Amino acid sequence: MASVLVASNRGPVSYTVREDGSLAARRGGGGLVSGLSALSGGSGGDSRAVDSLWVCAALGDGDREAVRRGGAEPGVRMLDIDPDVYDDAYNGIANSVLWFLHHHLYDIPREPVFDAAFRRRWAAYRAYNRAFAEALAEAADEGAAVLVQDYHLALVPGQLRALRPDLRIGHFTHTPWAAPEYLRMLPEDAHEELVEGLLGADEVGFHTRAWAAAFLADPLVERTIGETRVRVHPLGVDGDELRALAHRPEVDARLARLREEAGADRKTIVRVDRTELSKNILRGLLAYRELLTAHPEWRGRVVHLASAYPSRQDLEVYRAYTAAVAELADRINEEFGTPDWRPVLVSVEDDFTRSLAAYRLADVALVNPVRDGMNLVAKEIPVVSDEGCALVLSTEAGAYEELRADALAVNPYDVTATAEALHEALSMPAAERADRTKHLADAATNHPPQRWFRAQLDALRG
Ligand code: G6P
Repeated sequence: MASVLVASNRGPVSYTVREDGSLAARRGGGGLVSGLSALSGGSGGDSRAVDSLWVCAALGDGDREAVRRGGAEPGVRMLDIDPDVYDDAYNGIANSVLWFLHHHLYDIPREPVFDAAFRRRWAAYRAYNRAFAEALAEAADEGAAVLVQDYHLALVPGQLRALRPDLRIGHFTHTPWAAPEYLRMLPEDAHEELVEGLLGADEVGFHTRAWAAAFLADPLVERTIGETRVRVHPLGVDGDELRALAHRPEVDARLARLREEAGADRKTIVRVDRTELSKNILRGLLAYRELLTAHPEWRGRVVHLASAYPSRQDLEVYRAYTAAVAELADRINEEFGTPDWRPVLVSVEDDFTRSLAAYRLADVALVNPVRDGMNLVAKEIPVVSDEGCALVLSTEAGAYEELRADALAVNPYDVTATAEALHEALSMPAAERADRTKHLADAATNHPPQRWFRAQLDALRG
């Protein structure tokens, strides 16, 4: 039994089956991992020490095998959900409906279509949420605190409340929240279930005031909200930890190689994202192309280091987007490249060491999502960059609320304005750049994960 429980689709650890049949565990990072491990007395600590439990889904064959062999590591409970139900819930609803609604991503003349197939998937989403609610209800001590994460599990608070009225339940949304006129595209019964699901929580949290305001502006929320408190808890980064990670010998070595690939005397524009529709990678590349056209003095003197690693490849629209990014990068290289200058270097590996090396090398950071819950890359790069970096930041990123004073703001749809912001960033005097970077790093480290997690727990326990 546990007194603090976390629930999320993706858990803190994942397993693969080695050739010899043994299981290899890979630990993830992120705010929740460090928040919960701080609670248990340090990273890598046995989380049973504070009676905590993390409930998550078994995501692949390795995870399912771990469940079959008696479960994940102590402190983690993986739910082996029927693969068809899981696919409908995760791909069909969470990533194709809720993600699209909250990020305003639909191609409106064609989408969304809420038909009988949607209704079947919605029932799977409900069942998948229920599996979490039941596991939490079973494992929670009397009066325990339960922190439910993200749009995958929006129905859990209501379902869990019905099973266990004694619990203190929090829900945190890591994405934006859809504007009311966008969310009301959802069929009314599903919309009601979503709102009632979340309002089963004692505390509903968002990264920014804007997302909390969007939630509260939904007439259905206004009508239904009872005892639930809505709070803003912006997540930041742990500066000391991140700097230590970025100065390990393997990052030094990767940095040396990267500097050589880029060309030691060239400036760098760095971006690091999942290849995700909302990250706006294509318009970022178009802006870079326009920079090279409008300001030819940068040709041969700048390199765009773009990490765009694959994500959600079960969905056709993500596969097509991934291909389009590679194609546009190739076109720019063909158009402008010379024998000794490759204008864009794309990396598709999810390689944290390379990302940290790129962060350190960054003269300019490009973070231009069309809509983003927070965006931690915007906070990480200024903390880590060796010489200070100028941050070109979309006004539509959650991080903009905290970083606006020292970032160069861009409308993510305005390619010309983004190109001009890149030019301004590349031309920024060193003293101004250093000064802004310092302020950005201060703002970015205001709410490190441990404090972010603790604040939610304290609010929940009153
Ligand atoms: C966003 C979501 C997370 C999710 C992550 C990666 O940041 O808010 O909940 O885990 O994307 O997406 P994935 O589908 O790979 O878990």
